[in-house]
Amino acid sequence: MSRLNYQPISDKRSHKRKNLISIGIANPIQIITTCAIILLIRILYSLDARNFYDTSNDISTIYYFLLTSECRTPYVDPFSTAAFKLFNPGKLTYENCANDIPLIQSVYLNQARKYVLHMNMSAMAGISNVSNTNIENIHCCYREIRRPVGVVTNEDRYIISPCVNFPQDFMVPQHIDFMITECYLNNNKTSLIQKDAFSFVQQKNNTNNNDNAPKSNSTFGRRKPNILLLGIDSVSRINIRRTMPQTFKYMQMNNWFELQGYNKIADNTFPNLMALLSSYNLSTAEDKCRAETVGGLNRPECNFIWNKFKENGYKTAYAEDSIGLSTFNYGRKGFLQQPTDYYIRPMLLAISSKMAKKRLRGGVTCIGRKHQAEYIYDFALQFANSITTEPFFGLFWTNSFSHEYFDLPLTMDVKILEYLKHMKSNGILDSSIVIFFSDHGMRWGPLLQLNSGFFEERLPMMFISIPAWFQYEYPEFVKSLKLNRYRLTSPYDIYATMGHVIELGNPQKQFLYANDTIKGLSIFREIPENRTCYDAEIPEHWCACSPYETISSSDSTARSIVFMVIDEINRYLFGKNISDKCSQLFLDKLKEVQSKIYNPPNQTTYRLTFDAKPKRASFQATAIYYKISNTIKTVVEDISRLDSYVPTSGCLKLKEARKYCICKDKDGIK
Ligand SMILES: *[C@@H]1O[C@H](CO)[C@@H](O)[C@H](O)[C@H]1NC(C)=O
Ligand SMILES: *[C@@H]1O[C@H](CO)[C@@H](O)[C@H](O)[C@H]1NC(C)=O
Ligand SMILES: *[C@@H]1O[C@H](CO)[C@@H](O)[C@H](O)[C@H]1NC(C)=O
Ligand SMILES: *[C@@H]1O[C@H](CO)[C@@H](O)[C@H](O)[C@H]1NC(C)=O
Ligand SMILES: *[C@@H]1O[C@H](CO)[C@@H](O)[C@H](O)[C@H]1NC(C)=O
Ligand SMILES: *[C@@H]1O[C@H](CO)[C@@H](O)[C@H](O)[C@H]1NC(C)=O
Ligand SMILES: *[C@@H]1O[C@H](CO)[C@@H](O)[C@H](O)[C@H]1NC(C)=O
Ligand SMILES: *[C@@H]1O[C@H](CO)[C@@H](O)[C@H](O)[C@H]1NC(C)=O
Ligand SMILES: *[C@@H]1O[C@H](CO)[C@@H](O)[C@H](O)[C@H]1NC(C)=O
Ligand SMILES: *[C@@H]1O[C@H](CO)[C@@H](O)[C@H](O)[C@H]1NC(C)=O
Repeated sequence: MSRLNYQPISDKRSHKRKNLISIGIANPIQIITTCAIILLIRILYSLDARNFYDTSNDISTIYYFLLTSECRTPYVDPFSTAAFKLFNPGKLTYENCANDIPLIQSVYLNQARKYVLHMNMSAMAGISNVSNTNIENIHCCYREIRRPVGVVTNEDRYIISPCVNFPQDFMVPQHIDFMITECYLNNNKTSLIQKDAFSFVQQKNNTNNNDNAPKSNSTFGRRKPNILLLGIDSVSRINIRRTMPQTFKYMQMNNWFELQGYNKIADNTFPNLMALLSSYNLSTAEDKCRAETVGGLNRPECNFIWNKFKENGYKTAYAEDSIGLSTFNYGRKGFLQQPTDYYIRPMLLAISSKMAKKRLRGGVTCIGRKHQAEYIYDFALQFANSITTEPFFGLFWTNSFSHEYFDLPLTMDVKILEYLKHMKSNGILDSSIVIFFSDHGMRWGPLLQLNSGFFEERLPMMFISIPAWFQYEYPEFVKSLKLNRYRLTSPYDIYATMGHVIELGNPQKQFLYANDTIKGLSIFREIPENRTCYDAEIPEHWCACSPYETISSSDSTARSIVFMVIDEINRYLFGKNISDKCSQLFLDKLKEVQSKIYNPPNQTTYRLTFDAKPKRASFQATAIYYKISNTIKTVVEDISRLDSYVPTSGCLKLKEARKYCICKDKDGIK
């Protein structure tokens, strides 16, 4: 069967596809190149104009994020009128958390590799003057923050010391990783002027004795690139163009590689990040990592890539901003031993309870004098600037400004841009492979109600910056990467790529990937043009590859299938023993039906969008229908909930089932 057969598909975007047919399909590469050029021109055009968001000059004709013999993912216009009805970009700008002058600055001494706390005496003089005290009465002190160590270390605890006064240009002792500072008008700590919080990435002795630790060997062998993963939760490649236009433009101008065929492999953060960090799918991760038991995530078979980096002489760091939503802590037990050499969680726990929180107009939360995310990015810069004798790996993840509302990244666009510029001017981009990415797109809310909602959810952004020396040393990798921008890729491939990087630095060790449990292909080797979602281990429901056509929602087969799907959900609730808490679901309305165009004989894959009673919960399911037996196959945990499940699932703790649970009223009636 020839799959290279682009029939126009009869959904609402079909006019774009018909045009494609007339161009001809002899050379997909040409089409792709043309598309890319059109895309680039369009983006530059729309960004250069002051009227960023003016879509009246729509020069779009046709293009695809991904177009291969097996995949066809249309380019979605981020600037569509429908999307712009949902928010007001002009209102969302960066706001400071504090407008007074910081009294204390942390200064890093490059030579000494130490931090110094410098007080701004002129600002202090101003304050003493206004408050009618002598400047000698102003005192600043620090509280050290530490992670408790012991047999059972709770990920939700921290130790904070009493406040110790410090003098001007105080050299921060090497054992202090985090602190809160307090400045008072008097010496009995009754009238507080200002609180602040600081992290310090200190030089640490190698835990293994120096001789055993594999040195970077950069003077002899191959130079090892650092790896920095900068992740923002829930940002699709469509939404970054819409809500972080300056950051996006900067990456385009600075030759970052965008993987336009990057597709998520599961619903939410944990499985998508696990795929990237361990190559495991959810069921393997649950089996090997036991994240719900204390210490599970520290098991060696959990296969975190940072352990492999550590074994190969890298210094490692992991930081995440929102302690409640934190990937390994939300509904899970976190880490018994801190997972990486540098780990910011104790600081965030401490400042979240000891410092004032403030919600800004747009909805972002400040802690003390900074946005939550800024603690993460400042830590990333400190880490990258102070680890100089070994290579490093760091994961810096934020969800505070993107997880709840799709438009909030606009408020951080200029700030993230500033951080990327710092990384460039500090030489970090010259020594590091930097991956700026997300786990998935928005998973609920108004964006998902648009025609393009299906793609918003499934296509996380993925941008990669490669140091010049690396490109020079490995031209064949760059050649492959350029091709792979337009090939189907997944988080497993990023895992394999990092494995490939480890292997390069240590050629005598073969890094295992793409065996039966380890998945993924390195993006530094050519990925097959005809790769399917099946090959890439992307489940059908999350696959944005294959064309579907819309059929009537009164189609009788479709209607019988939606009842079977709802039965499956009800059976799932029953199987989880939660049907006493959660209502049985009934069909309210079948809203949209699509069927896959290319199917094996006697089966058809359907995509159904429907509302269920009670409470009109909105779902989208993928089901394979077997004609002969009149049965379906669907994976309940892969069914999307398109509206927020939070208001209806308060009675339930079981996190994987909350999407499907409409809590019964107290008296048990529906
Ligand atoms: C110190 O405070 C003064 C105001 O008294 C301010 O003008 C100056 O910018 C501050 N210096 C720094 C480095 O923040
Ligand atoms: C203190 O205040 C007085 C009057 O308010 C002003 O003239 C003087 O310049 C101030 N001094 C400082 C150091 O700010
Ligand atoms: C703290 O010190 C200030 C002056 O330095 C004094 O006025 C105040 O009474 C003191 N408060 C306590 C509780 O000691
Ligand atoms: C590092 O090792 C040196 C010498 O072995 C020791 O003096 C120092 O205290 C150690 N530093 C830390 C932070 O453990
Ligand atoms: C460093 O690399 C060279 C060449 O690849 C090798 O011969 C040497 O043994 C390595 N040294 C160490 C300490 O690993
Ligand atoms: C696959 O790779 C993992 C990790 O390196 C290894 O533990 C496992 O034995 C490998 N499996 C096979 C079948 O080679
Ligand atoms: C997860 O991966 C394992 C090992 O590769 C495989 O056996 C299993 O079927 C996968 N699970 C799912 C749900 O895809
Ligand atoms: C992809 O192409 C390779 C080599 O051209 C071929 O062996 C393989 O069967 C193709 N796969 C599919 C799914 O068409
Ligand atoms: C099911 O849940 C009920 C009440 O929530 C509980 O009493 C019962 O033991 C549970 N049964 C199983 C098999 O977990
Ligand atoms: C499909 O179904 C028809 C009759 O319903 C049957 O003759 C045919 O063998 C089936 N094909 C396959 C591949 O199962």
